Amino acid sequence: MTSSFNVQSATGYEQLMGRWSKQLAPLFINFSGLADGERILDVGCGTGSLTFALPHAADLREITAIDFSPVFVEAAIKANTDPRIRIQQADACALPFADDYFDRALALLVLHFVPKAEKAVAEMRRVVRPGGVVAAVVWDHFGGLPGMRMVLDTAAMLDENADQVRARYCFQPMMRPGEMIQSFAAHGLVDIEQTSLMIRMDYQSFADFWQPISAGEGPLGKYVSALEPAQRVKIDAAVKAAYEAGQPDGPRSFAAVAWACRGIVPEV
Ligand SMILES: C[S@@+](CC[C@H](N)C(=O)[O-])C[C@H]1O[C@@H](n2cnc3c(N)ncnc32)[C@H](O)[C@@H]1O
Repeated sequence: MTSSFNVQSATGYEQLMGRWSKQLAPLFINFSGLADGERILDVGCGTGSLTFALPHAADLREITAIDFSPVFVEAAIKANTDPRIRIQQADACALPFADDYFDRALALLVLHFVPKAEKAVAEMRRVVRPGGVVAAVVWDHFGGLPGMRMVLDTAAMLDENADQVRARYCFQPMMRPGEMIQSFAAHGLVDIEQTSLMIRMDYQSFADFWQPISAGEGPLGKYVSALEPAQRVKIDAAVKAAYEAGQPDGPRSFAAVAWACRGIVPEV
């Protein structure tokens, strides 16, 4: 298996995550760096949160975006109006590009959904020229995403299977402290730096928070949509109570922290 990402629809993804990855993209670009005239590869572009932010940050020569999901590729192609942007279906673990072609390869919220994430890092390094940059961001599901932890911690009290789901969710590839640094170093990248990037996920109401998960989007959506109806009713109600936390339903804001790592391809 080359992708563990659960895709239902592009609009559902926008509601679940695209609206937040759009906020994270400029922070990631700032961390990764960008210069006029460069060729950039966006690995795992999804609906294009990073792809479409890139031309606002520099006067780039070429932006190539790939994703494993044909649903997302089709949506991103439809949304594109910039002739410098090329979007295609491809696997991060077998990038269909020549060695040293790009100035930077960037992956926003992707590597934790690639079961063989090491292979994707190796491929990103291969297609970047000496002196160029490889950079990636993954959510810190264990310690940095309290809104989503709230769902799985609540479910784990009511459903013994949720324990395993939580274990997998908290420790997806590249999420452990220092894991990306070690991987980047193992692939020969140098001058490696890691930081935490933070945004806030602001919801209008419980329905705004729960609707995309309830509709089956993403890893939590996959879990809740497989529940027996009676169990589902219990878990929906318990998560709503956790969201409300003893106050009337309404807006809530959750911090969301991601690990970001960048390294340079050594000059030969
Ligand atoms: C959480 S989404 C992030 C999408 C986008 N970068 C964003 O930030 O909104 C994860 C993406 O990784 C893609 N993905 C997972 N495994 C992949 C692989 N092996 N090759 C290419 N894309 C992959 C999924 O299809 C999905 O679009």
